Amino acid sequence: MAAETASPLPSNTFPSQPTKITSIKTLAESPGLTSIPATYTFTPDLHGQVTSAPEGSIPVIDYSLLISGTPGQRSEIVHELGRACQDWGFFMVINHGVPQKLLSSILDGCKGFFDLEEEEKQEFKGNHVLDPIRSGTSFNVSVEKAFYWRDFLKVFVHPVFYSPTKPAGLRNIRKFGAGRSYIDKALDLERGKQIFIANLYPTCPQPELAMGMPPHSDHGLLTLLIQNGIGGLQIQHKGKWVNVGTHSNSFLVNTGDHLEILSNGRYKSVLHRAMVNSKGTRISIAMAHGPSLDSVVSPAPELLASSKGDEPAAYIGMKYKDYLELQQSNKLDGKSCLDRVRISAV
Ligand code: OGA
Ligand code: NI
Repeated sequence: MAAETASPLPSNTFPSQPTKITSIKTLAESPGLTSIPATYTFTPDLHGQVTSAPEGSIPVIDYSLLISGTPGQRSEIVHELGRACQDWGFFMVINHGVPQKLLSSILDGCKGFFDLEEEEKQEFKGNHVLDPIRSGTSFNVSVEKAFYWRDFLKVFVHPVFYSPTKPAGLRNIRKFGAGRSYIDKALDLERGKQIFIANLYPTCPQPELAMGMPPHSDHGLLTLLIQNGIGGLQIQHKGKWVNVGTHSNSFLVNTGDHLEILSNGRYKSVLHRAMVNSKGTRISIAMAHGPSLDSVVSPAPELLASSKGDEPAAYIGMKYKDYLELQQSNKLDGKSCLDRVRISAV
């Protein structure tokens, strides 16, 4: 037998300190990958009991009735919206009027971005939560010990529109974002901040060990989510994790932390997380709608002073910008950033 034949590392062995990984996509595409590095594994309790959403349980809002229904239909929908934000913190919007073709082209544009060469994506790296274009991996690798099976691209699209220069197809996000979504009109967010967030969750050989995004709640007022044909989102409802599945032609909308603060806790910003799978690469796009960066959000005074007597404020006021920095400077560790502004009951 020939001596000293260099034996290749088995494909599932990684150095304990992997060289700096700038995208999970590169790792996921390594030939022969059958297991994931220890730095990407989470304890199984994150994957605790999950129930699938019973058919029709997540509230469904028919947007066409909201804009062109009879006054009776409109007030019924507004009522349903309020109920959805209180009970679920999530709802599905159907008949939203945004052409499916446009949504598909935006998803394709995002795929095009993630498919760029690593060096090209690095041009858009960004370092700070307030950088208008920022691409990266996991959530915040500078504070994390274990990494998420996720790459992302975050772009500020309103009130000033930014877009990466590559790939060309990504410019379409302007049509989905700035000034075009129904929430602008509903909430008069003329100067509001909209952040376009594309998430890539590559196929994973050990999906039961990895996590795409850990439990977290979203900053801002409302977030709209669309995804390619692959599901993975779970939301917390009455203490259980509920699979959302995929719903073509609808937006999944959730109440953000700032609507919970503004409503003094009436509307819920619920925990949700993204799971990964071994069957295909998932792309989701979240369009976050927040107040302007300099607004101080606190419980609405009108809600606190009522005829029934004063209701104590349950949250401290904070500038939206400062809240973003606070969330970014901490780990997304399964808790809501809201805990940091909640005034604990005495
Ligand atoms: C987010 C988010 C979930 C998903 O981007 O805040 O929760 O399913 N995404 O990608
Ligand atoms: Ni989220």
